Amino acid sequence: MSNFFEEQVLDVHHWTDRLFSFSTTRDPGCRFKSGQFVMLGLPGEGRPLLRAYSIASPHYADVLDFFSIKVPNGPLTSKLQQIRPGDRIVIGRKATGTLVIDNLKLGATLYLLATGTGLAPFMSTIRDPETFERFEKVVLVHGVRTVAELAYREKIEEELPQDEFLGEMISQQLIYYPTVTREEFRNRGRITHLITTGKLFSDIGLPGLDPVRDRVMMCGSPALLADMTPILEGMGFVEGNTGEPGDYVIEKAFAEK
Ligand code: A2P
Repeated sequence: MSNFFEEQVLDVHHWTDRLFSFSTTRDPGCRFKSGQFVMLGLPGEGRPLLRAYSIASPHYADVLDFFSIKVPNGPLTSKLQQIRPGDRIVIGRKATGTLVIDNLKLGATLYLLATGTGLAPFMSTIRDPETFERFEKVVLVHGVRTVAELAYREKIEEELPQDEFLGEMISQQLIYYPTVTREEFRNRGRITHLITTGKLFSDIGLPGLDPVRDRVMMCGSPALLADMTPILEGMGFVEGNTGEPGDYVIEKAFAEK
């Protein structure tokens, strides 16, 4: 048996000249947990060139969604950004990753902190009813440079609260906090700054981070992870892993060099 599924591209959406998303068919044998990633590439001669991509669609959907940066000379993304419906994609059979709620201890509020394409795994997490069964409140913070980079904003703000299956949970339990650093918007500034100054918490009406009550998942640039980790550790948060649940878990967002 091959280590890969070969899937068909169904839809491609270009958010900006830096970001795009696409959906593909899903083999019934493709299993994953919300927040996990798979290896993905383009079919061709020899071994495909693969990169890790978080699955942005919910685990029960019959399609797979992916959210990608476009890197002009990126070995994969320079080609991948040209895909069109009907093209083929190869997807590794094994999904993996640390951003799963089983890696967190029980808690009351779940913070999902993402920059850029780091939003991808959380688009799956916020569409999983189990997330809302386990946590009373889920706070999704997405930090980007420009308003146009707030991918999926309309889906989160308009569509999901009306969703037949998820609407009530999303309306009552999800707090979405988009923030922009390089142009005007209702929320401004880096996630680190919003947390250390307390601005995030006064804006959403919740108390500041506390490891007794709060859990954190983080996905973004290495700079975000490097800056946020000591902030969390300084507050007493302990990192979790597979088999050893903790107070927070982290993963680098896909950014092809
Ligand atoms: P900034 O505009 O101040 O660099 P990118 O697209 O480069 O991955 O950035 C996505 C978002 O992450 C931007 O808003 C960027 O802010 C922000 N960012 C970059 N570095 C950090 C960091 N160390 N901590 C928090 N946010 C960061």
